[in-house]
Amino acid sequence: MASKTGVNATKTLKVIVIGCLAGGAAAACRVRRISEDAEIICIEKSAFPSFGSCGMPYVAGNTIEGGVDSLVVTSADTLINRFGVDLRLEQTVTAVDRASKTITVATKDGKTYTEAYDKLVMSTGTRPFIPPIKGLESGLPENVTGLLTPTDLASLIKLRDDGAKRCFVIGGGFIGVETAEQLAKLGLDVTICDMLPFVMNAVYDDDVAPALTKALEDTGVKTILGAVVESIEVSGGRAVSVTVKGRDAIPVDAVVMAAGNRPNSELATGMTLGPRGHIAVNEHMQTSDPDVYAVGDVVTVPHLVLGESWVPLAGPAQRQGRVAAGHIAGGLPDTYKGTMATSVIRVGAVVGASTGASERALRMAGWKQWCGYSPLSEATKDDDKAYSVVYTHNGTHVGYYPGSVPLHAKLIFHPTSGRILGAQIVSDDTAARRIDVIATAIKGGLTVEDLEETDLAYAPEFGSPKDAITMPGFVASGIMRGTQQGMPMTMLVKHLDELKAAGTVLDVRSAGELEACNLGEGVLNINVDELRGRLSDVPQDKPVFVFCRVGFRGYVAQRILEANGYEAYNGFGGMCSVQFTSY
Ligand SMILES: Cc1cc2nc3c(=O)[nH]c(=O)nc-3n(C[C@H](O)[C@H](O)[C@H](O)COP(=O)(O)OP(=O)(O)OC[C@H]3O[C@@H](n4cnc5c(N)ncnc54)[C@H](O)[C@@H]3O)c2cc1C
Ligand SMILES: *[C@@H]1O[C@H](CO)[C@@H](O)[C@H](O)[C@H]1NC(C)=O
Ligand SMILES: *[C@@H]1O[C@H](CO)[C@@H](O)[C@H](O)[C@H]1NC(C)=O
Repeated sequence: MASKTGVNATKTLKVIVIGCLAGGAAAACRVRRISEDAEIICIEKSAFPSFGSCGMPYVAGNTIEGGVDSLVVTSADTLINRFGVDLRLEQTVTAVDRASKTITVATKDGKTYTEAYDKLVMSTGTRPFIPPIKGLESGLPENVTGLLTPTDLASLIKLRDDGAKRCFVIGGGFIGVETAEQLAKLGLDVTICDMLPFVMNAVYDDDVAPALTKALEDTGVKTILGAVVESIEVSGGRAVSVTVKGRDAIPVDAVVMAAGNRPNSELATGMTLGPRGHIAVNEHMQTSDPDVYAVGDVVTVPHLVLGESWVPLAGPAQRQGRVAAGHIAGGLPDTYKGTMATSVIRVGAVVGASTGASERALRMAGWKQWCGYSPLSEATKDDDKAYSVVYTHNGTHVGYYPGSVPLHAKLIFHPTSGRILGAQIVSDDTAARRIDVIATAIKGGLTVEDLEETDLAYAPEFGSPKDAITMPGFVASGIMRGTQQGMPMTMLVKHLDELKAAGTVLDVRSAGELEACNLGEGVLNINVDELRGRLSDVPQDKPVFVFCRVGFRGYVAQRILEANGYEAYNGFGGMCSVQFTSY
């Protein structure tokens, strides 16, 4: 076929895409939209092209009815007819020979053939990581499945329909938690185990993840946390029980393996890889071989806050597919600037949402916490890698309109520039739209002061004149300017003994609130509304560390004390911030 653009007058551009799901299908369809002439071959191991993997837990739980087929996003017919893709299903690429620019393909019936390419796109995704568990040395027994492929989903549906009652989920990340929640919804007896102390702890910090863990437990799922699975007892090729280290064996009918993923980067022989075996790419998604592109879960990409990272999420995969196609076929956009790793998860009645860097990830990357009380501060305020944390717990909408619930928010920012580094929210469905505000702010390089100035949609049913997600912007801006003086409540609690020794720890909540939860002996209690009249009870010569339930009365008390000549610090976010609950 002659090229209409005249660029390739004698030869049509031949593009081969390996893996036709989120990243691969996006790349193939966009190459076609840019170039009617290109020859596009998609080779996909499974029988399903363009499959909505993210829906699998909900099909397992019958929230989405219709089985595996209900997750087809773009059908094979559409790919073939509308997008002119030469689609080869149930074929596996077994080797890439970059010197001769050919690939080797194995078909379902055991034949192999080679195919030449001009440009190659690898979107091969991941496979489940199988932890070193006794009983799994020679592969997964029957009754044990991952949940990454349509075949896995079919296995889980079969286990369910065959009457599995007791399910054990190994791994408390997105896939494990969503699957556990959905199986529990069906009335199954579900146990989840993770080596971290809370579920979702790889994404959510220790102060936020407990709320998600409790929400999961509230759905009836049993949790075994901070513990590792030691063995799976197999009998007649089937898993019969699971043993967590130091505990009795738990009888099971089905096991879901969701202990993390590893990149399918074996085809990238001789190419540059990242620290965990992901394929390294430039901003055009080109690998170290310029004729080979890689996109999606199999690559490392820049994280807008943390630098190099691997973010197995569908949005980034599809955008990267678009970018690779643009660069291959000559269209914009053709550069990928990085990810914010924005995500959201429902856990029973609660929704968690996160974007940017977690506090833990920042610390692992060498960032240090700055706070206004210098003995506890790990960094100077203007240190390039200093971060500060605020918490707010305002209602999702005004209290006088029915249905408002707390929006627990943690915001992490740079204390002098105000640059937003990350946020985590636990609330109702509106957590998703709130986190998108922060994700957009991070993308735009906005500061906490910009957040303070942002108009968000308000009517009583939907928000507050000061929205629950602009509130952390107000507090953070106050910290930047020095009007809010203190430290996050989590830090106050962690260093409680040290602070009691250095000064007065003052709880300004009411007596009734103290009964529900308090910080124990050696903490002075004066209700904020009585503070002006009882200043003589507070030693003047030592710093005062004030706190309340959500941080607001603490702030007022801090201002009163300061006006009376005290050195006072507030515990930002109050008691609700210690484990993100309303107690
Ligand atoms: C249960 C589950 C829930 C998820 N939920 C969410 C969510 O809510 N939100 C979100 O953003 N993300 C979610 N994700 C992640 C999202 O699905 C992935 O980030 C996205 O699918 C990655 O796209 P990809 O193209 O890189 O790889 P994949 O979608 O994994 O596709 C890779 C494809 O390559 C094929 N393949 C691999 N090797 C070969 C080979 N050698 N030859 C031929 N074909 C090959 C595979 O068969 C597969 O079809 C979820 C994932 C799972 C499994
Ligand atoms: C799983 O294996 C156990 C042990 O053999 C068996 O009792 C159970 O019925 C199996 N469950 C399913 C759903 O196949
Ligand atoms: C946010 O919460 C604080 C503390 O309860 C409260 O004082 C303030 O009025 C709330 N703001 C809005 C806008 O709801």
